[in-house]
Amino acid sequence: MTEQSVRDVVKTDLEHVWHPMLQHKGLERNPPMVVTGARGSTIVDGDGREYLDAMAGLWCVNVGYGRKEIADAVYRQLLELPYYPHLQINRPAAELADKLAELTGGRLRHTYFVNSGTEANEAAMKLARQYQRQVRPGEPRYKFISRYLSYHGTSLATLAAGGVPERKTRFGPYGDGFVHVPPPYPYRCPFGGLEPEASELASARALEHAILAEGPETVAAVIMEPIQSGVGVLVPSPAYWREVQAICRRYGVLLILDEVINGFGRTGRWFAYEHYGLEPDLVSVAKGITSGYQPLGAVLATDAVFEAFLGEPHERREAVQVNTWGGHAAACAAGLETLRIMEEEDLPGAAAQVGAHLLAGLETLKELPWVGDVRGKGLLAAVELVADKETRQPLDSARVAAVVQGCKERGVIVGRSGGIGAGLGNCITLAPPLVLTIAEADRIVDVLQDTLQSLR
Ligand SMILES: Cc1ncc(COP(=O)(O)O)c(C=O)c1O
Repeated sequence: MTEQSVRDVVKTDLEHVWHPMLQHKGLERNPPMVVTGARGSTIVDGDGREYLDAMAGLWCVNVGYGRKEIADAVYRQLLELPYYPHLQINRPAAELADKLAELTGGRLRHTYFVNSGTEANEAAMKLARQYQRQVRPGEPRYKFISRYLSYHGTSLATLAAGGVPERKTRFGPYGDGFVHVPPPYPYRCPFGGLEPEASELASARALEHAILAEGPETVAAVIMEPIQSGVGVLVPSPAYWREVQAICRRYGVLLILDEVINGFGRTGRWFAYEHYGLEPDLVSVAKGITSGYQPLGAVLATDAVFEAFLGEPHERREAVQVNTWGGHAAACAAGLETLRIMEEEDLPGAAAQVGAHLLAGLETLKELPWVGDVRGKGLLAAVELVADKETRQPLDSARVAAVVQGCKERGVIVGRSGGIGAGLGNCITLAPPLVLTIAEADRIVDVLQDTLQSLR
């Protein structure tokens, strides 16, 4: 783009586009980047400057930018059949659901398609309520239990299930039935400084306490990410998850896993639940499934859940829910091609290998005064910044913003656990494309080190 055309697009945009999470007043003095192109893990701005995108957009461009094969697959599908309502059948959606069944080892053989992560969680929650009404008709199981500091989407129900005060408070009050328990976060132990193992177990047992206090016969489902991403990548121990799953089973509560970020190779396995040997009832996915080449989300369900929706027409047991773009043929074609690439290039394996290298590099940053903790799994990582290592007081917001900006000036886009409240939002987050090279991983660490070293 020429300098003039960049200026023109900024002017047009600021006149007419209403951006998410940006204060428009004064935005013309410091407008967001115009992103004009991208390849691999690198994006290019309107001035032709290149940046290593260590956030893969919003944690999603798992196969990297510039994949012609996906563009071709979508193009072919658009010509053949762009879309038809999913009350009928189309080939790419059928094949993608089949592929997902294979990738989940035959455990999650039924896919309900939507268009985003929010919608996937919203649909999973609705399916869970309907399931409970059909399986346990005498019990008013409508409540959801989720974790504080979690993010599950931007609709009212997913916000209600979420636990991010700054994203929620302006939109309440929310309906009854959304209960929260403390996350497994030993670095900031919710119980006042327990040892890590004991802290995580206390978080797990808080779930049982909540179910009993609410009345198990009122609880429909638990919704959680296997590895809680947005707060700053909390990677629980297997013991935590063993306990949580056992508690859900004990009380007939469905386990919904939000794999919107975790899924599709991000953590070094196809799905993060594999690290823990979990057997979820419902799994919501989006983001990596098409790596951002088309909007797509889905809910994956077990046979047991799906079969609760079978019955005679007069019983009306079918999933009472429809959305115009669900099972969009071109989006599903993008998904199929994305998964083919991931499999062919073993991107989950690459994420495990390069992610371990990245994490080892990030660990060395702990020598710096501002780095309190480093956490990660595969190519999903966070560096928690503190003002004081002894007290663990979170680094102030202005300095965290300066780190993000400093990295950008050095050519690397990093994320931040924003909007968390409770004085948090002090983690630098990393979720680069899974095609990240070792050299690029080293560059992320070098840039972070350089930026943190020059922080005053
Ligand atoms: C864990 C998690 N769940 C759900 C969502 C919502 O996905 P979407 O933005 O596609 O609606 C997000 C978005 O970042 C997320 O991080």
